[in-house]
Amino acid sequence: MNLTDKNVIYFGGFGGIGQKCISELLEKQLKSLAIFDLAENDEILAEWQKSFPSTEIFHQKVNIIEKSDIEAAYKMASQRLEYFDLIINGSGCLNDQLINPTIEINLLGVIHSTLIALDYMSISKGGRGGMIVNISSVVGLQPEPLYPICAASKAAVTCFTRSLAAPFYLEHFGVSFVTICPGLTETSLLDDMTSKTIFDFETPIHFIVSKIRRQTAEDCARNLVKAIENSKNGDVFMLDLGEISEVKIPDHWAKQLAD
Ligand SMILES: NC(=O)c1ccc[n+]([C@@H]2O[C@H](COP(=O)([O-])OP(=O)(O)OC[C@H]3O[C@@H](n4cnc5c(N)ncnc54)[C@H](O)[C@@H]3O)[C@@H](O)[C@H]2O)c1
Repeated sequence: MNLTDKNVIYFGGFGGIGQKCISELLEKQLKSLAIFDLAENDEILAEWQKSFPSTEIFHQKVNIIEKSDIEAAYKMASQRLEYFDLIINGSGCLNDQLINPTIEINLLGVIHSTLIALDYMSISKGGRGGMIVNISSVVGLQPEPLYPICAASKAAVTCFTRSLAAPFYLEHFGVSFVTICPGLTETSLLDDMTSKTIFDFETPIHFIVSKIRRQTAEDCARNLVKAIENSKNGDVFMLDLGEISEVKIPDHWAKQLAD
């Protein structure tokens, strides 16, 4: 997607990865940028507005756990912007002691946001189509024994997003779907990791955490924007250690459907 002159909604835009992504996105001369986030940050918002005066930038407070909040935010944004080209669902949490909130924020919020966005974007409903990017994780591609609840939520995001990338949906909605899987990235999401595991007995967490290297949020953001610019429907990208790579996941029924 060529980002110039596009209307973009970024969920979680005041987070560690979100802030760096927005800085990258704004360099692309967007038409407008709506930040949907529970967090507020008037200082950085004012800085962006001052540095990029030709892009309309605003924040709408949204608790992604509340479907009605998501609906109200999209409604407000549609009145202000008319249409959306790109949605990035980038809110998230990592705390396996909070089972329901983990599923509500990481998975249900992404599902509701995606389905509500489709109502506005679908060409079958008079929309202009576009792209929805859902941020999953490396733990949405493989097991993560230390955080099985987070891994379950992210695996579901990967599968949900890839499912909606079926060609017949693209034809119907005119919206393409991309899954982004960052590796460990230096943000406050990773603070106090040892107190956020589900079980309280001794695990090799210190060994594992010390072994797995982290990338900077800047590197992750730069590659996330590159992925958006170069992706096609159904792509899954791993962004780790400053590198970007496409993840190929086998489709068990592809051969039978092709016969
Ligand atoms: N940092 C990592 O190592 C890492 C690795 C893989 C995937 N991710 C994913 O990348 C995305 C961004 O993560 P990050 O590292 O920037 O984390 P972060 O904690 O810095 O940012 C998370 C963002 O989500 C928002 N958020 C949390 N709960 C919310 C709620 N109830 N309603 C609305 N917004 C809410 C926060 O306000 C914040 O803006 C998340 O989806 C995360 O799961 C991060």
